[in-house]
Amino acid sequence: MNIGIDKIGFYTPHLFVDMNKLAVARNVEPEKFTIGIGQEKMAVPPITQDSVTLAANAALGILDDQDKEQIDFVIFGTESGIDHSKSAGVYVHELLDINPYARSIEVKQACYGATAAIQMAKGHIALNPESKVLVLGSDIARYGLNTGGESTQGAGAVAMLISANPKVMVLEEKSTYLTKDIMDFWRPVYSDKAFVDGRFSNEQYISFFQQVWERYKEKTGLGLDDFEAICYHLPYTKMGLKALRTVLDEVTEDVQERLTTNYKISTTYNRNVGNIYTGSLYLSLLSLLELKEDLQAGSRIGLFSYGSGAVGELFTGILKPNYREHLFVETHTKLFDSRREVSVEEYEEIFQNTLPTDGSNIELDIENDPAHICVSGVIEHMRQYVNKLR
Ligand code: COA
Repeated sequence: MNIGIDKIGFYTPHLFVDMNKLAVARNVEPEKFTIGIGQEKMAVPPITQDSVTLAANAALGILDDQDKEQIDFVIFGTESGIDHSKSAGVYVHELLDINPYARSIEVKQACYGATAAIQMAKGHIALNPESKVLVLGSDIARYGLNTGGESTQGAGAVAMLISANPKVMVLEEKSTYLTKDIMDFWRPVYSDKAFVDGRFSNEQYISFFQQVWERYKEKTGLGLDDFEAICYHLPYTKMGLKALRTVLDEVTEDVQERLTTNYKISTTYNRNVGNIYTGSLYLSLLSLLELKEDLQAGSRIGLFSYGSGAVGELFTGILKPNYREHLFVETHTKLFDSRREVSVEEYEEIFQNTLPTDGSNIELDIENDPAHICVSGVIEHMRQYVNKLR
């Protein structure tokens, strides 16, 4: 049975900060951020957006009434969940009016969460071919002002509808994966900011890629020249390139050029949004699919997922005929075009304006947030969500 991505959508908040200006404010050469790290713009989430609303806004743009009837499983991958008990999936299920006869859960393994969700969805659909599964990868990457990781922050969500006979991409069966208990990046339950050993995490990312790649070749008999492109989890856009470069000498110069060119295209959206943790790999896939207009049906796309801590996986998809007709290019172009730049001072103010953690109530002004779905406040320890389209 062919199972894969039937629809794919994306959402990022309406505000961003320019990395050149952030570099100047931090006394760093702008080229370190724009070339060394590879980021141009960083999404800035207002207090009225959290991982739930980002995901709901991403899914809102792609689901029709029939999808909402057929979805029987909502799997929400995140590492910026809002509750230790109740899953973010349940909130999205309600905000999008998905039929009640569905399962809704949250899964976590750092930036690998959405990949775990996709693999779970594949198994579910293999047993229930009529089912559609809504997979969400949504996060706010927060390292803190003036920290080493600050230039790799961001916010956004990717929503994917996984089904049998998908319209965009069939996910192939063989994949290779690896788990190793390491402390390269983590966020203790008492902290709203991540802790990271940046250099170690870079090394581990590359090492995980090399290990799953070697195993993939053994398992499938395929080589690098069988790939049109490889999309990577992108904490920042230079990261995947470092991993790709370690295997490029396995192929001819022509293939090297193809993979490098396609890598660059696959990083365009991420370069303008920043790190969105578990959605990052799928934002990169979206960037490739939407911006490389001559990508042929039948092309094999590699997907390297990495979630610190750590789990890595390499898997692949084959593009379906006429896949472009089923993308939401116009919606995403409009989303990018309608964003507003904020100054570094405004960004710092927004960053520090967080929901109360002492149990007090708060009412938020959602009129200034153009998103359809927003956090409108907290009452009696319960976050309040509004879908303005209702
Ligand atoms: N012009 C061009 N490039 C420059 C530059 C300049 N003026 N100044 C520095 N650079 C380059 C460096 O050479 C380096 O490139 P390289 O990695 O290819 O060697 C890059 O910019 C980063 O510089 P570095 O000194 O290593 O930065 P840093 O110590 O501030 O750390 C991270 C960078 C990414 C490790 C840090 O931002 C971080 O911890 N991020 C979060 C963790 C993360 O994303 N992990 C990834 C795995 S999930």
